[in-house]
Amino acid sequence: MRVSFSYLDRQFADLEPYLKRIADLVRTGDFTLGKPLVEFEERFARLCGLPHAAGVGTGTDAIAISLKVLGVEPGDEVITTPMTFIATVGAIVQAGARPVFVDSEDGLTIDPEKIEAAITPRTRAIVPVHYTGNVAEMPRIAQIARKHDLLVVEDACQAIGASIDGKPVGSWGETACFSLHPLKNLNVWGDGGVIVTRSRDLAEKIRLHRNHGLVNRDEVAAFGVNSRLDTLQAAVGNELIAQTGFITAKRIEHARRYDAALEGLAEHVSIPRRRPAVKHVYHLYVVRAERRDELLAHLQRNGVEAKVHYPIPVHLQPAARHLGYVEGDFPACEADAKRIITLPAHQHLTDQEIDYTIRQVRAFYGK
Ligand SMILES: Cc1ncc(COP(=O)(O)O)c(C=O)c1O
Repeated sequence: MRVSFSYLDRQFADLEPYLKRIADLVRTGDFTLGKPLVEFEERFARLCGLPHAAGVGTGTDAIAISLKVLGVEPGDEVITTPMTFIATVGAIVQAGARPVFVDSEDGLTIDPEKIEAAITPRTRAIVPVHYTGNVAEMPRIAQIARKHDLLVVEDACQAIGASIDGKPVGSWGETACFSLHPLKNLNVWGDGGVIVTRSRDLAEKIRLHRNHGLVNRDEVAAFGVNSRLDTLQAAVGNELIAQTGFITAKRIEHARRYDAALEGLAEHVSIPRRRPAVKHVYHLYVVRAERRDELLAHLQRNGVEAKVHYPIPVHLQPAARHLGYVEGDFPACEADAKRIITLPAHQHLTDQEIDYTIRQVRAFYGK
């Protein structure tokens, strides 16, 4: 049996409704900041339970633009975690700031109890990452941010639909940033990103900044960038967005099936902390595994496209060398990088495929 990590072939087996939307758009020629984009932004904001959404070029740009528009400047420090995809940190660098890392906790998100020790007079913002689709400890992080007068930009690129006690991601930060990359839970046919915010004023500034700072065709308020969400991608998003509930529910169902089965392998596999109040949306289903690399090879040999997200923490990447971190600085993240493994859990898998994956994990440990 082959258990695929990607689901694009299954997801887009019926292309017709997407192609119809694209044909409609092509006929209007409304390609730049067009009507389908406005519709998508309204629907995305509603889906997130927040009043404003602005489409931008990528999830990376969503973070960088948020920081820029909020006034983060060169020389400022921005706290985040090395347990993330490189883009979180790349976006902080793109905004001109210096990334400062704080170790991760058992649930693979930033450890709030270690944040205050990393704050200096130069700290301007915290970028918690809702890594894997789990929500960082936002009430505590927001409290720390208030105490030290810091901005919060939530990296929710992996966490559409996630919440704590029913409060959606984006409820705590100045903004929350989403990616529409083809392998994200809500995806389009290329790159795309969205910024959501509770502030009308901030939403207006973001809309200006993503479009060169143009107030109208002839006047520029402040220099910006060209990072508009492509209207064609918004048209794809308008077709898919209604499926977000199904996508999230299926991923949660698969994760519960894995959790229940893997609890029986507790001496070999450990499940990251699950907080009952958190709606984790399982962009990635990650567990810690003994002899991880051997398990990975075993699964791949047997047709299961397991992966590792990611074997090298960001602070140990060559790109981060100038920041001066060394091995041993973030023990939790570093230990996890050696033992985490991602099992396929996407919405188009069948129970049989999940059960086959479970059987393969069990077989590897001789169960
Ligand atoms: C945690 C995280 N942050 C940021 C990004 C950047 O998103 P994009 O690829 O749309 O730039 C991604 C996804 O790629 C991500 O997983």
